[in-house]
Amino acid sequence: MNLILLGPPGAGKGTQAKRLEERFGIAQISTGDMLRAEVKSGSEIGLKAKAIMERGELVPDEVITAMLAARVSRPDCAKGFILDGFPRTAPQAEALDRMLAEKGLRLDHVIELKVDDGALVERIAGRFTCAQCGAGYHDTFKPTAKPGLCDSCGGTEFTRRADDKAETVAARLEAYHRQTAPLLPYYEAQGKLSGVDGMASMDEVARQIGAILSGKA
Ligand code: AP5
Repeated sequence: MNLILLGPPGAGKGTQAKRLEERFGIAQISTGDMLRAEVKSGSEIGLKAKAIMERGELVPDEVITAMLAARVSRPDCAKGFILDGFPRTAPQAEALDRMLAEKGLRLDHVIELKVDDGALVERIAGRFTCAQCGAGYHDTFKPTAKPGLCDSCGGTEFTRRADDKAETVAARLEAYHRQTAPLLPYYEAQGKLSGVDGMASMDEVARQIGAILSGKA
């Protein structure tokens, strides 16, 4: 099963992709996570991407599509994958169609997480991650069970993303509406698009996605 989760920054794509990965044993591919790993390693891609990401703009299509092509060829994608944060532009969507056709693969579903812009700022501002294992949390919506202690690994160090500042979030939202939202009619025309209420609780969003995947939506 090959899926795309589409939605604005903070809509819950990463949260739901992780759940789908655990439930179906298919790989979560987050181009944002891949880019952050490149930045951390100080690679050539990372050096180019860092400033662009901190401005809340999109990294050039050719960089992302090359990265993605290499990633979907890895063995953990054999059972399928969930694309979280890709495609984000029309050229990326077209490149993905070509890539899948060359590999004899098909896209099963494109799921849009619909969230009001106002709620996104609160979600992003409260997000934090365990520095040791990467588990994701939120100050209000998903705090750690014990303050200052990661539920998954017991780690005590947490990080917040450099692009989660209010002014950068505004630029990321603008990029979403201008460059990514036009992909919705592209996938609707392919008969692949379904929407879920991303304003609902994490469990309810997961239930709605499950209903789409099982054909019961
Ligand atoms: P990326 O890392 O993809 O960021 P994004 O799309 O802005 O999405 P986020 O990771 O911020 O949010 P999310 O939807 O995953 O939400 P999450 O589950 O964390 O991209 C970062 C940058 O990299 C881009 O700006 C760009 O520069 C570059 N980039 C990446 N891909 C690219 C591409 N293809 N082309 C070009 N450039 C690219 O949830 C957010 C918070 O809300 C969490 O704290 C969570 O706990 C909470 N939450 C989640 N669901 C709910 C819920 N239902 N109710 C309440 N709280 C919730």
